Amino acid sequence: MNNTAIAASGLRKAYGDKAVLDGIDLNIGAGTIFSLLGPNGAGKTTTVNVLTTLLKADGGTAHVAGHDITTEPEAVRAAIGVTGQFAAVDELLTGEENLRMMADLHRLKGSDRKRVVDELLERFGLTESARKRSSTYSGGMRRKLDLAMTLVTRPQIVFLDEPTTGLDPRSRRTMWEIVRELTSDGVTIFLTTQYLEEADQLADRIAVLDQGRIVAEGTPEELKRQVPGSHIQLRFTTVDEVDAAARLLPGSIRDDALALRVPGNGGTKSLRLLLDRLAESDMEAEEVSVHTPDLDDVFLSLTGHATTEATAS
Ligand SMILES: Nc1ncnc2c1ncn2[C@@H]1O[C@H](COP(=O)(O)OP(=O)(O)OP(=O)(O)O)[C@@H](O)[C@H]1O
Ligand SMILES: [Mg+2]
Repeated sequence: MNNTAIAASGLRKAYGDKAVLDGIDLNIGAGTIFSLLGPNGAGKTTTVNVLTTLLKADGGTAHVAGHDITTEPEAVRAAIGVTGQFAAVDELLTGEENLRMMADLHRLKGSDRKRVVDELLERFGLTESARKRSSTYSGGMRRKLDLAMTLVTRPQIVFLDEPTTGLDPRSRRTMWEIVRELTSDGVTIFLTTQYLEEADQLADRIAVLDQGRIVAEGTPEELKRQVPGSHIQLRFTTVDEVDAAARLLPGSIRDDALALRVPGNGGTKSLRLLLDRLAESDMEAEEVSVHTPDLDDVFLSLTGHATTEATAS
């Protein structure tokens, strides 16, 4: 039995003398959601392009759905679906026509074609807009149509390159639900994102990509354990107040001359306790803010540098 959907070892890709993928190893279980997390220019799209056979690696090996990407690219392509970073939707066509076009490309005929197209429109909540030109769709609807088009062939493995970048919070949540539903059908998801929150919400395992290298890999819990946790920042108006508060709150760290960082999960309970504690000593913070870790924190703690875009070296 083969439980591995994607396995890669030492994948390399360079443009000129610039290494874009610098030895990528992956092992992704079938039916799981894997997230490749990284900032602009980290190499996410390049990794997707190599694994989906759109781009040839310079070195290393990979098997996708049990097939070698170099020697059996057609078998790989038959098993996968790809939703790229930039939507493949034809704006001149309606949603329904876009789906039919995909069905035609894959030689679905007659009642099969109609059933697949209708099912997908329904599933993605696009039935009402099916006859409208997709140029009139919102960003969220376009992403949904794009993903629906990927699913026409019922792929075993779906690659989603930044599926929610640029979407509002509500559309993002809808997309998350759709992705989760896919795995309940046994589909393996390879998802790239710039958002720690997204990887945290969806992924069984996360790999953090930095300048073409995987700098951390694990479950969301394992990863977040390596990152400084949530904290509450208290800002005061005078240095004396900061000093007094620091004495009162064990474990607090100075953020700057007038601000203290207090460890805490940001929940209402810990926040209330903290404010009560200050009030009991007749102290009041000028400003209170809750900070949850994001990609910047992950990067800072894992790599010692911020999420600056990779620059040509
Ligand atoms: N065809 C190309 N020729 C030269 N350099 C390239 C080419 N494609 C990508 N690169 C470079 O490779 C690096 C990785 O690019 P890639 O598109 O994989 O990053 P990414 O993680 O997908 O970024 P983003 O979040 O912006 O989509 C970047 O520095 C990019 O400039
Ligand atoms: Mg990209």
